[in-house]
Amino acid sequence: MDTLVPVLYIVAFALFIYGLMGLTGPKTAVRGNWIAAVGMTLAVVATLLQVEHNWLLIAVGLVVGAALGVPSARQVKMTAMPQMVALFNGVGGGAVALIAWSEFRSTEGFTAEPTHVIVASLFAAIVGSVSFWGSLVAFGKLQEIVPGRPIGLGSAQQVVNGLLLLGAVACAVVAGLGGAAELWIVGVLVLAAVLGVLVVLPIGGADMPVVISLLNAMTGLSAAAAGLALDNTAMIVAGMIVGASGSILTNLMARAMNRSIPAIVAGGFGGTATLPGAGDGVERTVTSTSPADAAIQMAYASQVIVVPGYGMAVAQAQHAVKDMAKLLEARGVEVKYAIHPVAGRMPGHMNVLLAEADVAYEALKEMDEINGEFARADVTLVIGANDVTNPAARTDPSSPIHGMPILNVDESRSVIVLKRSMNSGFAGIDNPLFYADRTSMLFGDAKKSVLEVTEELKAL
Ligand code: TAP
Repeated sequence: MDTLVPVLYIVAFALFIYGLMGLTGPKTAVRGNWIAAVGMTLAVVATLLQVEHNWLLIAVGLVVGAALGVPSARQVKMTAMPQMVALFNGVGGGAVALIAWSEFRSTEGFTAEPTHVIVASLFAAIVGSVSFWGSLVAFGKLQEIVPGRPIGLGSAQQVVNGLLLLGAVACAVVAGLGGAAELWIVGVLVLAAVLGVLVVLPIGGADMPVVISLLNAMTGLSAAAAGLALDNTAMIVAGMIVGASGSILTNLMARAMNRSIPAIVAGGFGGTATLPGAGDGVERTVTSTSPADAAIQMAYASQVIVVPGYGMAVAQAQHAVKDMAKLLEARGVEVKYAIHPVAGRMPGHMNVLLAEADVAYEALKEMDEINGEFARADVTLVIGANDVTNPAARTDPSSPIHGMPILNVDESRSVIVLKRSMNSGFAGIDNPLFYADRTSMLFGDAKKSVLEVTEELKAL
């Protein structure tokens, strides 16, 4: 057993890394996920082989976990994936916090424990509890159980959060001195829980995907700390992989939105929308178009670029879009899809939706690859995208999204925008693209509009 367990762990780590590599591309992602899952199964088996267990309790845990997790993961809609990830991730943080509590109890309040075990356990208690409660609030906001708008204490927020953190650390110091009453570890967990709630509540619902990714990274770090305390290599390695990949993802998302992580955590963005053009006193007009005109424009184009955004996800229009593109292709029109890295509300949102509709992976073009092609496109069809097409990001230094890389849709020969109204997108700002001479607006639900255009194409 002394040799088998380390060997199983090493195989599991190799499978984690290999599986993660698979997640870098849509073609290999499903296989990568399976490989990592096999790695995790091996790690669990190796851990169970190590010491005496209460097998009944473990069996009950497995049954309850599988009964809750498997159906919810199978039934979740793609648009609800961020809150699902928040929930699963939060449960990981909660488990780590409970491990720290159980360590405190089983060692009679860390009596005669080495310092590194005590420090790692208390770190896991604080970070795990923050992550669990913060993730629950993030889940509640995205599921619209908790209001998505920022809910904060105003200028007192940072002071209160600072005091809570100080309080949790002070309780942790007393709990770590050895032989302290259980109240102190409970104090650590409760103060960290309130901190987790108060840190996430003031953040606007639409910023939640970045926060979830951040909390995910924190859960990974707390799991690694718990692994250190339990002397479990698998937890250390798996926790560090989650911590590192979560941090990289958070950074990439923040960079693609041209926002800093401290600015996101400080909150207040994306919760309220300003009225388009409000306050500047400038009258703007837009040109409306009809499904019939849009169909004619695209049918006689040689190249059409589709720009999907959050509205396509809301309308669940991806299958209708694929069917429309098929008709265009049958007429000899070249159709490509321009994918912005933060289009939608989660990383890879558009790729996943279009893959679900069986759009060929080769037709999906990343921003850097497609940006040079807009000037040559006869028609760009924007489907429920807004911020990721906003030229103010390039041209208006006073814009909140100035500096965010965007799709250069405004360079196309003509643009058709599918959305329901002149309402703003996530950033709550007006989009000059909608008022440009070459742009026409097709108002309505994206799926309904695409189906109507498709009918018109069939009739041509
Ligand atoms: P948004 O800027 O949010 O715009 C979406 C547009 O879709 C809205 O203007 C809305 O206009 C329209 N819409 C909503 N429902 C619709 C429906 N049923 N039919 C037709 N149109 C509909 O979306 P985007 O361009 O994809 O940009 C994403 C934004 O989210 C960026 O600002 C990004 O920074 C942010 N963000 C992204 C992520 C990730 S990781 N992807 C994470 C957090 C935040 P109407 O209401 O007028 O229809």
